[in-house]
Amino acid sequence: MKAAIVKVLRERKGYVSGQELCETFQVSRTAVWKVVEQLKQQGYIIEAVRNKGYRLLGEPEEFSKVGIESRRKTKWAGKKILFLESTDSTNIQAALAGSRGEEEGVLVVAKEQVAGRGRRGRQWESPQEGGIYMSLLLRPTVPPDHASGITLLMALCVAESLQELTTEPVKIKWPNDIVMNGKKVCGILTEMTAQVDYIHHVVVGVGMNLNQTQFAGELSEKATSFWLETGIRADRSRLIAALLEKFEQSYEVFCKEGGSLSRFRTEYEKRLVNTGRPVRVQDGKESFDGIALGISPKGDLLVRLEDQSIRSVFAGEVSV
Ligand code: BTN
Repeated sequence: MKAAIVKVLRERKGYVSGQELCETFQVSRTAVWKVVEQLKQQGYIIEAVRNKGYRLLGEPEEFSKVGIESRRKTKWAGKKILFLESTDSTNIQAALAGSRGEEEGVLVVAKEQVAGRGRRGRQWESPQEGGIYMSLLLRPTVPPDHASGITLLMALCVAESLQELTTEPVKIKWPNDIVMNGKKVCGILTEMTAQVDYIHHVVVGVGMNLNQTQFAGELSEKATSFWLETGIRADRSRLIAALLEKFEQSYEVFCKEGGSLSRFRTEYEKRLVNTGRPVRVQDGKESFDGIALGISPKGDLLVRLEDQSIRSVFAGEVSV
């Protein structure tokens, strides 16, 4: 009810009577008063005036569950949010929710991860300051070999959500790194529990460098933050709510079309840094060079080799 009350007060911009809140949420005046007191303790500035009601005067800058919930406009994505001060990895926690049989759309968000996971067994630095660490539980009804498309879809949604905040170009490095000025601002890790022909669940984890002011050592050569590139301090709750909305819509189309990215291909390719450029692909033990042409409807990278044949890359590391 906390988020719902904040939403009503925010949208009204004036006083909302206690009576109206009681009727809207079917609770007593004492229950409303208690929630308002809890919100005040969390940093919301709410004025209470006899015979007028409650008015929202200020919101905390602090990143919070109420902040996300009160802005969420989705049907199912993030309908249930596990908001953790600190955790091992949000992907681990979302996978546990998946194994417990929780519904599609559970969102795990943490202010800090102590065992953040990156692709290919790497670590993902996840300090308290300025990052977004979130994982969404999905139960897609597409064949398991199409699940990797979800990563590209999320990459596109992240890039578009960030692009709404800045005119600096936000690009994608295949398959799922979001880059600004050649450095990484976001990584995505998708993990799946499946049988050969059936997906139990997929967890798509997003790690965004938003407001960090510096990166230590080697990381500073490859990583950057949205703040460092734009000077804009993004509001994490707002950004997550916007991303959920975009992703929910795209994912529904993706599932309806059997896991095909056809409808997103043009937009993805527009943001792809690799398009038309020479790439070196490290695919397992093998490495080869070519020119990246774009992606297939499944999300494979299409690379033209020296002999003019086109090779479709399902997984691999690409360097430009
Ligand atoms: C990459 O290596 O580029 C992927 C990084 C993915 C990091 C995110 S942070 C939230 C979620 N939880 C994890 O442990 N990893 C992903």
